[in-house]
Amino acid sequence: MSSQSMTNQQGQINIILRDRKEQLAEKAAANPAAKTKADPFRIIDDHLDSFIGMSRLREKIKEIYAQVLIKEKRKQAGLNTESQVLHMMFKGNPGTGKTTVARALASIYYDMNLLSKGHFIEADRSDLVGEYIGHTAQKTKDLIKKSLGGVLFIDEAYSLARGGEKDFGKEAVDTIVKCMEDHHNEFILILAGYPKEMARFLSLNPGLKSRFPITLEFPDYSPGELLEIAIDMVAMKDYKLSNEAQWKLKHHFQQLLQRSPYNFSNGRYVRNIIEDAIRKHAIRMIHSSSHNKEALMTLEAKDIIFEEGWG
Ligand SMILES: Nc1ncnc2c1ncn2[C@@H]1O[C@H](COP(=O)(O)OP(=O)(O)OP(=O)(O)O)[C@@H](O)[C@H]1O
Ligand SMILES: [Mg+2]
Repeated sequence: MSSQSMTNQQGQINIILRDRKEQLAEKAAANPAAKTKADPFRIIDDHLDSFIGMSRLREKIKEIYAQVLIKEKRKQAGLNTESQVLHMMFKGNPGTGKTTVARALASIYYDMNLLSKGHFIEADRSDLVGEYIGHTAQKTKDLIKKSLGGVLFIDEAYSLARGGEKDFGKEAVDTIVKCMEDHHNEFILILAGYPKEMARFLSLNPGLKSRFPITLEFPDYSPGELLEIAIDMVAMKDYKLSNEAQWKLKHHFQQLLQRSPYNFSNGRYVRNIIEDAIRKHAIRMIHSSSHNKEALMTLEAKDIIFEEGWG
């Protein structure tokens, strides 16, 4: 669902909620050609429509997609084509959607026939690094074997460089690089992490940078986007936010971003607030005598409580 603000004659602002499905249907009706004539980016839009914002990111994914398709056509026409490396780096602060987008990309690439299975495996340091010499290489190889045909997403990739030269993390990095060569194009590796730490990690492992030609940046969300994320999240659960609840949230996001923009977990923070509000609403409903559908659905401003230290 998305919202639209309108000022009425009394100067009050109303927020009009519109169902997302309704909007998509309207969009399709306004552009009937999109339905009849195959839209080349349909696969991507279908998978990414539910995400708020991310306009630059969508464009970048479309560029990659176009490049893959055109490369194939050029190959068919006998033109010179280089093989395409699709491994990627994701850089963004906490909660900016890195894991969620990586998961969607696994499905997109599967639909594009670039991956044979399209499954998604999320791993961190503990899944790769072992406890004795040789253990790490085996663990890493096993994980990559499981990922073949899909996406292997390594979160906080820089934690592999944590202990310096003597650390087994280095063995994991070396094994990853070797497997990328042995299993060229059989899986897609995504290394993710916070921007500053990723930059440092790459500067310590110069060989890695060229193996990840695509970098996607995940910017922090604006207060308006955070509110839209909240509206969508509650709609997915068959709840809605009263107008007052929406104002309270937006005002809070504005204040929080002014105060501590570097300490903020974006979409994850929104999810925590919403989950908490749903619990508060349940308590309120238990004490209420009115259990009509509207009341059971509506999260009021009083259900939204911001705890100190959240962010
Ligand atoms: N653009 C978006 N639209 C809708 N929901 C979003 C969006 N971005 C993030 N979210 C929601 O925010 C939450 C956190 O997203 P996600 O786990 O993908 O972030 P992350 O970047 O992987 O975070 P971390 O770095 O902490 O692992 C999820 O519940 C996700 O659904
Ligand atoms: Mg994540």
